[in-house]
Amino acid sequence: MLQDIDVQSLIASRKPGHSLPRAFYTDPDILQADLDRIFYRSWLFAVPACDIPKAGNYVTHKVGLHSIIIVRGADGQIRAFHNSCRHRGSALCRQHKGTSPKIVCPYHQWTYELDGRLLWARDMGADFDPSQHGLNPVHCRDVAGLVYICLADNAPDFEAFASEAARYLAPHDLANSKVAYGSTIVEKGNWKLVWENNRECYHCAGNHPSLTRTFPEDPKLSGGVGGAGLSDVLDQHVARCERIGAPSAFRIDPAGRWRFVRMPLLGTAESYTMDGKAAVAKPNSSFPFRDAGALLCFNYPSTWCHFLGDHAITFRVTPVSATETEVETRWLVHKDAVEGVDYDLKRLTEVWVNTNDEDRVVVENNQQGILSPGYRPGPYSAAQESGVIQFVDWYLDTLGASLADRTLIAAE
Ligand code: FES
Ligand SMILES: [Fe+2]
Repeated sequence: MLQDIDVQSLIASRKPGHSLPRAFYTDPDILQADLDRIFYRSWLFAVPACDIPKAGNYVTHKVGLHSIIIVRGADGQIRAFHNSCRHRGSALCRQHKGTSPKIVCPYHQWTYELDGRLLWARDMGADFDPSQHGLNPVHCRDVAGLVYICLADNAPDFEAFASEAARYLAPHDLANSKVAYGSTIVEKGNWKLVWENNRECYHCAGNHPSLTRTFPEDPKLSGGVGGAGLSDVLDQHVARCERIGAPSAFRIDPAGRWRFVRMPLLGTAESYTMDGKAAVAKPNSSFPFRDAGALLCFNYPSTWCHFLGDHAITFRVTPVSATETEVETRWLVHKDAVEGVDYDLKRLTEVWVNTNDEDRVVVENNQQGILSPGYRPGPYSAAQESGVIQFVDWYLDTLGASLADRTLIAAE
């Protein structure tokens, strides 16, 4: 079993600008460190708020050992709880998604309000105090229509991201959106390979015939480094969008955890469709023009999202094992858009359904090659893979800082 010191020496052994030593992509002990030190301590994207629009709507979400219930209360507020009964610990919700006026334990029917209070427990005696047996809460925030949770006792500061998300997402009416379609796939690859693949378009020409009809492959538009002056095409698009009040400039967290930028699509493309025209006639944004491009957001380690002029797509990344990762995708359209009238579901979803599957194949191939004893870490292209370098550096810095933090170690 790998000790913290072993992980620290693996981090130290890594050659800058190169892919990681094999253990980072294959070893269950490293995955455990990733869960303990990154996933269990970060704000994680869980679900778009419009996926649970009504009181009693809930989803369950599994992160490592934790199963979480995310539920909308009678007061409209979304809350999160550990999916564990306060009687003898039974899992409460066994479905991935559902609707229930109360949360009722399937074992002995202890019954909880949607806000977590224990409402009813049979024959527990005169001394039993229901107020001491409410559901165990998990930090939960609805940020501009995106629900984030944090499993840590003390959640890290989230204000900088939350305020920027509110600003950048203001033109996108997620509060008045609905989920038109969802897909959940498991890629047989480490979660970091899923991210590395996402953070570059070096692979796009060879693998994404649908996406490259509209998505620009130029890394200066969507890559890891950015800012004014790098690309005239990006600067002009940002200026055009900001003139009508839509925040668009490249903005990255000083620690590298999250980033926003609104990039143009190719040519006159309006959306991620096969012909480049909008997929939804009733858009869920307030842009006065159709070619608003794509607002790209990532927030490590759990999500990247694309907000277009006519619809939005959220992605959620969750490790399943050292060599398996769940990728959940949601297509969001205006809540009043009618399928078959305002949008055709195949047209709306086909580009990213194809792209997700193509990405699954390249990630799985990448994992297979890394499992070979012949694997050696190789050099990233500084011109094409600046986003990958940015992700991997963030990962190693975050994991290394956590391992070196004596206060965290003392608290364990
Ligand atoms: S374990 Fe839930 S009611 Fe007994
Ligand atoms: Fe891809």
